[in-house]
Formats: sequence, structure tokens, C-alpha cells
Amino acid sequence: MRHLIDIQDLSVSDIEELISTANDIIAHPDKYSEVCHGKKLATLFFEPSTRTRLSFEAAMYELGGNVLGFSEAQSSSASKGESVADTTKVVSCYADIIAMRHPKEGAPLVASLNSTVPVINAGDGGHFHPTQTLADLLTIQREKGSFENLTVGFCGDLKFGRTVHSLISALARYKGLKVVLISPEELKLPSYVKSEVLKPAGIEYVQTTSLEEYMPELDILYMTRVQRERFFNEEDYLRLKDSYILTPEKLKTAKESLSVMHPLPRVNEISVEIDKDPRACYFKQVLNGKYIRMALILMLLKEAGTI
Ligand code: NCD
Repeated sequence: MRHLIDIQDLSVSDIEELISTANDIIAHPDKYSEVCHGKKLATLFFEPSTRTRLSFEAAMYELGGNVLGFSEAQSSSASKGESVADTTKVVSCYADIIAMRHPKEGAPLVASLNSTVPVINAGDGGHFHPTQTLADLLTIQREKGSFENLTVGFCGDLKFGRTVHSLISALARYKGLKVVLISPEELKLPSYVKSEVLKPAGIEYVQTTSLEEYMPELDILYMTRVQRERFFNEEDYLRLKDSYILTPEKLKTAKESLSVMHPLPRVNEISVEIDKDPRACYFKQVLNGKYIRMALILMLLKEAGTI
């Protein structure tokens, strides 16, 4: 049974296939509108989400399938003390595929070990978020045409930002990547991502606290929100939350071809004036997220022999 827990569960050719299916869905949506007829996706969200959950649901509906699930731990048996393993065993009896978001790192992996249907990690704590990465990759492919020779700046909460960890891990497999890590001292990229991903792949990277310093070199600027829910104390959050705010002024030195990305939700990191700049790609990422999730559901259900 194939699951998606970490973006590394997908090979470079799997990613190529997903992107090509997503592009085909964008071009010919009617071809796909009944392929999951009678199939059910369960969305088990133990942590709040708007985009990811609705994107999975919209994806399954657009494939002609149905959706069941819950959107907060309080409304599930987790509030009675049920384990993730048991919840998964139960839900595997009702659904053909599961998307799980959980505040604990590793929970979707535990689910996958107890499931008889494919499990997709829809975000586990500050760890990974592979389907956001797929949305990011589809966006980069559509904006840039290739994943090679890109200089990518990651800015904001690089410590708790799971979307950053997964995207770095995905991009590290392509040639010519340069990474600029822009964060306050307290929110630097975890050393495991550097030692397990960047260093073994021989990726050139710099760490800086300045958003302006490397702006002229960037092909992509990936902004992130400071992850309030992962802080132990509110004072630290309040002190760090506005560390970086992207304004039109700060974009003046950037390339014309820069793509500004953000997994959303945005708090303050990108001034709304940037929304009308043609370099802003974050709302395109949202739409791409739905198409790539359609492609992923199709791939996993086909491999499971369900469709
Ligand atoms: C991200 C997440 O949940 O990690 N959002 C998303 O999935 N679109 C980023 C965030 O919450 O800041």
C-alpha cells in the first residue's frame, strides 16, 4: 500500500507524472469528472485548516467522489482518548483514502502503519507538509518551466514552517539549486534539515537575517507566517511575528521574473499592495493545490487497485 508521508516518498519521476496529470486536469477537467465515482476520501483533521482541507475536499468532488471526516480533534473520538492507530483502523473500513492533519509529528506515519487504504500526510506539527510542496512544485513548474538552476529565498519562520522543510527536501534533488535562508536567529532552519538534506546533496546555502541583502539574486521568494501555535510563550511570538514584511519598496531591487510565493494563511508578512504585482503567485498556488491533490488521489487510488 502506497502512502504519502514525506515528499521523499515520491521519486523525481513520480513528481513529473503528478505534474503532468495536474496539467492535463487543468486543460481537460471534464475527462476527470467521474473517475472517482462512488469512492470516498476521509479528511481527518486534528488541527485547524482552511485551504488544505477544503482543497482535498474540492479535489475529491471534482473527481466525482465523496468526502467524509472531521475538522477538529474535539469533534472526533480523539477527545475520548482514542489512539491515532485505532481511529485509522476504523476509518479504513469506511473510506478508500485518508488525508490526515495532526499537531504531533509522526502521527500520519503511525496512521499509515495501521491503515488498509492509502494515507496522505496533510501536515504533521512542525515536521512535513508534502501536499503543499506538490502545490508549490506545480506552481514553480508553471511559472519557471523547470526546477533547475533556481535561487530560492525562504523567509520567516524556518524553524516551525513545515512547508519550508518539505519544499527544501523536494528541490534539493534538482541541479543548480541555491538556497537563501532568511530568518530571525530564533527561527533558523532546524539543523536536521541542513545535515540530512542540504549538506548531503551538496546544496549551496547562506543564512541571513536580512530580507533585502539577497533580494536581487532571487528567482523565488517563499514567504512564511510565524507559526504562533508552535510557540511555548506568547511574548516570543509577539516579538518575532513582524520580523519580515514584504512591501513594494523592498521588491524594488528584485528581478522582474521573481515569483513571490506563500503557502498561506498570510498574517502580516506580505503587504496587500503586493497582491496586484504580477510577481505575486500565492493565490495561484491555492488553485494549483487543488489540481495536484486531484492528481495525487488518482495516483494513489490507481496503485491501490481501487480505481
Ligand atoms: C501551511 C501549513 O498548514 O503548514 N498552510 C497551508 O497548508 N496552506 C502554512 C501555515 O499554516 O502557515
